[in-house]
Amino acid sequence: MKNVLITGGAGFIGANFVRYLLRAEPEVHIINLDALTYAGSLENLRDLPDPSRHTFVHGDICDADLVNRLMREHEIDTIVHFAAESHVDRSILGPAPFIKTNVIGTFTLLEAARQAWGQERDGVRFHHVSTDEVYGSLAPDDPPFQESTAYDPRSPYSASKAASDHLVRAYFHTYGLPVTITNCSNNYGPYQFPEKLIPLMILNALQGRPLPVYGDGKQVRDWLYVEDHCEAIHLVLRKGQVGETYNIGGGNQPYNIDVVRKICALLAELRPGVDYASLITHVPDRPGHDRRYAMDTTKIRSELGWQPRHDLESGLRATVRWYLSHLDWVAKVAQGEEFQKWLQQNYADRQSLAGRRRA
Ligand code: NAD
Ligand code: TYD
Repeated sequence: MKNVLITGGAGFIGANFVRYLLRAEPEVHIINLDALTYAGSLENLRDLPDPSRHTFVHGDICDADLVNRLMREHEIDTIVHFAAESHVDRSILGPAPFIKTNVIGTFTLLEAARQAWGQERDGVRFHHVSTDEVYGSLAPDDPPFQESTAYDPRSPYSASKAASDHLVRAYFHTYGLPVTITNCSNNYGPYQFPEKLIPLMILNALQGRPLPVYGDGKQVRDWLYVEDHCEAIHLVLRKGQVGETYNIGGGNQPYNIDVVRKICALLAELRPGVDYASLITHVPDRPGHDRRYAMDTTKIRSELGWQPRHDLESGLRATVRWYLSHLDWVAKVAQGEEFQKWLQQNYADRQSLAGRRRA
């Protein structure tokens, strides 16, 4: 690994991974290609450990000329592909960008890698970052998802990610492109855009706004602290078998409502004086809401020796502390018109969203 193209490295997990890789690989040079959509920000890339080994390129992964040029000019040997539209609720209200970036974008990168690397198999790698949501939704007593679980995506987001996973595997089988895939559960931690559950709840609570819990709040996610995800990806790059998929998950599977209660309790400890839990408000459910995700991580644990370093307790505490000490970051990334419009669309108009589905 010498010259690494990271796509989506100005987003939540990508920016954490850029930091992680600069520390873990002292020789590596990173080319960070990001379109800076609403979810990406250069604010996420301030104070990098060694900025001289990081080059930011503002551009779209669907731009084949640009991607081909970057592959050539920077002699890219490794691609770590994070760039995506990533929010399920947005995919429900507007699926088109999901198809474009997640499907066409991945295809564009695969083609660029195939052209640049030709028949080369040694020392090159296309790593695709994907999600547990491709496997669908579990009933309470179902066993967790394994790498062999059949795909059953149920939202435009997860369907577009499933399509991209299939393309990546097809390039391995058809063209011998050296690929690896990781499917990971819900991440949380520093730099997560405040549209997602955990940062949204922290910030709404601090502003005394309602904490909008979809439906009965008894949905289950398998939460993983973002740094543990970064470590797993790095391990797969280093030791993973080409052509293989690895499931990654935190082994933490609380109800959503319990996650929200934990956040309230942490805030009550760290910023006392407010009854945060009284802000919890049940709102109409997300259409097609997956009930439960859980990951079987036996493969990555036994083959590569990975295990998460954070449980939900320590990870949530670190996350709440991070947001409390980075309110200037929040102000910069989330005060824009786009985000306010999103809050209006997704929350103020929520009743009509549920109504439209019933009609
Ligand atoms: P994010 O939405 O925070 O960041 C996505 C980044 O991609 C942004 O910086 C955005 O500007 C960039 N981007 C979007 N479209 C682009 C395009 N056409 N060209 C170039 N850049 C573009 O997402 P995230 O939460 O950091 O997720 C990163 C990856 O990890 C995604 O592929 C997602 O599917 C996957 N994943 C996320 C989670 C999670 O819980 N967040 C869990 C498992 C897998
Ligand atoms: P989210 O962070 O959007 O991730 P995903 O949909 O990819 O799992 O949501 C996590 C869970 O929290 C999911 O079950 C939906 C729920 N949720 C709420 O109850 N209220 C909210 O305002 C949001 C954003 C999510």
